[in-house]
Amino acid sequence: MKGFTLWFTGLSGSGKSTLTQAIEPLLLERKINVEILDGDVVRTNLSKGLGFSKEDRDINVRRIGFVANMLSRNGVVAMTAAISPYKAVRDEIRAHTENFVEVYTECSIEELTRRDPKGLYKKALSGEIANFTGISDPYEAPENAEIVVNTEHETLEESLDKIMRSLELMGLIPAGEDQHTSPEEEVVIRDRLQALGYL
Ligand code: ADX
Repeated sequence: MKGFTLWFTGLSGSGKSTLTQAIEPLLLERKINVEILDGDVVRTNLSKGLGFSKEDRDINVRRIGFVANMLSRNGVVAMTAAISPYKAVRDEIRAHTENFVEVYTECSIEELTRRDPKGLYKKALSGEIANFTGISDPYEAPENAEIVVNTEHETLEESLDKIMRSLELMGLIPAGEDQHTSPEEEVVIRDRLQALGYL
């Protein structure tokens, strides 16, 4: 089994951590070793002391990429969940990582402001927090992510199925016993992977 890096990118609260945590047991079930590098966790140890300037974010994201690459080249599936707002740095990591799979967790600012479990959007909108991604700081959405999940319109199950099915079609994980994706969804997934040269 080859390792790979499953790189989640998306705004704060868009579901990156939730998805990585939900995928972990599904991979373990298939006897696949997995490690999660979560932005919030990494910032309490590996990136302690870094802030949210472009420079600090780039350092943080590069560190996550460095560790993810070390893991995935040794047969582990490294899942990362950091906003990773800048395309250039994500692409730089992609270029250095053997099996790099980007997952964009799409969700509108309106919905994120409604969810706002940490109350951060409220603070960002009132100006209490500066340089908040999506409000007062840039987020560069990927144009060619291998997988796009829309956490506003899909259920968690649907997003999970989409991710697992994409990984199966890419030959990165063995096919599961059940097929959960709808025929319409299967077409969308295949079209995307085909356009990117995987199929
Ligand atoms: S990244 O830009 O360097 O990739 P990372 O994912 O590690 O960001 O951290 C984002 C988390 O930090 C958010 O989910 C949020 O909880 C918190 N946070 C605090 N301040 C900010 C800010 N200015 N912009 C974005 N997130 C922030």
